[in-house]
Amino acid sequence: MNTTQTSDSSGTNVMQVLRDATAEHHRRAERHEFQKEFVRGRIPLSVYHTWLRQMHRVHESLEWRLEALVQERRELASVFDIERRKAPMIVDDLAFLDSSEPASVPVLATARFVVYRDELAETDPVALLGAFYVMEGSTNGSRFIAASVRKAYDLPDDGRGTSYLDPYGDRQPDMWKLFKVAMKDLALGETEVGSIVATACNTFDAVTAIGEALVCRGNG
Ligand code: HEM
Repeated sequence: MNTTQTSDSSGTNVMQVLRDATAEHHRRAERHEFQKEFVRGRIPLSVYHTWLRQMHRVHESLEWRLEALVQERRELASVFDIERRKAPMIVDDLAFLDSSEPASVPVLATARFVVYRDELAETDPVALLGAFYVMEGSTNGSRFIAASVRKAYDLPDDGRGTSYLDPYGDRQPDMWKLFKVAMKDLALGETEVGSIVATACNTFDAVTAIGEALVCRGNG
């Protein structure tokens, strides 16, 4: 397990580095056909169920691995805590939607990403912060998708069925600001920042690839 801090890069704003380095990946993710159809509320309800199941795969092991990491490096508790766990929300959404789809079968893109991330957890666990940055940052856009999804499937305004897409409600901007400050305040080594950024790029691409796999299903 590599927890070694290399040359100090505490003067670096890791959030600025992440934002700059992943800008193109974000553009590709948000412009992908799946996201566009999602925003328009035009993906079939069955595909919404399948997507939630994929996201459950993405979040579940990430979150328990982050919990383990926080036990080892207590300073990371400012970045990740129980309130930021999304896997339980997905379980609640699926229960509310009464999804009858057979137990979580991952599409290839999901399975690949989980393997990649589980390997990282063994070799370079701090890099998981890059995956968490992407999933946490996605709450900036997904709360707008939640509104379309509620309308499209006639789901209640109280959030049942869309709690994963809109986990914080009106607190989202504040939760995002708190996350950014907590990340910026971490004393990360240069090598750590590099691996967090690389993981963030790969996470964006994985989420895009999962959407791509589901577009094919929606059309099929
Ligand atoms: C239609 C889809 C999407 C829309 C409309 C959207 C919109 C946004 C918006 C408005 C912001 C805030 C920008 C700011 O405050 O400067 C944002 C940030 C972000 N989004 Fe998205 N997004 C979408 C898809 C995604 C997806 C699929 C992901 C992840 C796979 C994602 C990850 C992020 C991240 C990590 C940030 C934080 C960027 C930063 O460091 O400031 N977004 N998005």
